[in-house]
Amino acid sequence: MKIIELEHLSKHFKVLERREGLKGIVKDLFKPRHKIVKAVNGISMDINQGEIVGFVGPNGAGKSTTIKMLSGVLKPTSGNLLINNYLPYKQRKDYVKNIGVVIGNRTMLWWDLAVIESFKLLKEIYQISDEVYKENLELYNKFFNLNALYSTPVRKLSLGQKMLCEIAASFLHNPKLIFLDEPTIGLDVAVKEKVRKLIISLNKIKKTTIILTTHDIGDIEELCQRIILIDHGKLIYDGSIRKFNQIFGAYRTLTLELGNIDEISIENINKEIDEVFKPKEPIILKKKENIWLTLTINQDDIKLMDIFNFLMKKFPVKDIKIEEIELERVIKEVYEGGLK
Ligand SMILES: Nc1ncnc2c1ncn2[C@@H]1O[C@H](COP(=O)(O)OP(=O)(O)OP(=O)(O)O)[C@@H](O)[C@H]1O
Ligand SMILES: [Mg+2]
Repeated sequence: MKIIELEHLSKHFKVLERREGLKGIVKDLFKPRHKIVKAVNGISMDINQGEIVGFVGPNGAGKSTTIKMLSGVLKPTSGNLLINNYLPYKQRKDYVKNIGVVIGNRTMLWWDLAVIESFKLLKEIYQISDEVYKENLELYNKFFNLNALYSTPVRKLSLGQKMLCEIAASFLHNPKLIFLDEPTIGLDVAVKEKVRKLIISLNKIKKTTIILTTHDIGDIEELCQRIILIDHGKLIYDGSIRKFNQIFGAYRTLTLELGNIDEISIENINKEIDEVFKPKEPIILKKKENIWLTLTINQDDIKLMDIFNFLMKKFPVKDIKIEEIELERVIKEVYEGGLK
């Protein structure tokens, strides 16, 4: 069942285009020049109840702006948006009763209060019934021993403990949809695992839809069945991680051990590769630690064996290594526009 429906959603900001220098300041004052920033530019997608969706993209891609529209903070410039049968920005008061928001480096708990006091306040704010409240606390205790933290004031919790409590708090009123913004930021590996386990378990038990923004590939690989990649306000990829790997995973890194490459002119060989293969994406051979040469190719573009044979003829190769590129680098490379 669909819970989120977006149709050509856009948010454009009108911003002052500042001119340089003193003259510029004066001009800006008397005759301001504006430009339109298309932070989100025509995004369409549906999300089903219970999905965990990873929402990724480089800095400035439009993730936060989208989330703000989804959570009812911002009104879209154009397009349609229906969540859980609400128009978030229009029916904000009722809408927010059904959502939860966790922002990695901010807290929604009360700093000086013990965790349990914060929970009690949330119970009042969201008018959570005694039954639901009790049920959730039992769940947290049973699976995560959170009761050990309840009497501690929030300010005395470690970063990881705080995040566990934040997440538990966001599920307390049984929202249908939760936004998690960088939930594992700044946590060490072991604590990250705990946080991820809590998210996965609560998602499974409660069938909560989760929209996760993260720069952490581990979060995506462990938590999400689906990723949505956006850049420059547009949707670049929407699908499973497996398919993402199939599409963007045709890249292989080839490393050759040569012994000594001091006298080899990389520049000429790169020119030759360009002439012989005419690759759609640039292929660049690089020196590594003076005994290795390495390059990355897209197998959909160039055959691995062809480039290998070419290089074998050029150099006395002692050893080779062929590696796949991990998802993390692929996403980074997609952001930066092609593999170099
Ligand atoms: N209130 C605003 N007024 C003007 N421009 C804005 C506003 N909010 C965001 N922008 C611009 O819209 C674009 C998208 O910003 P957004 O914060 O949505 O990106 P993001 O994907 O969340 O990035 P990050 O990973 O850095 O958090 C950026 O160019 C940003 O400068
Ligand atoms: Mg952001």
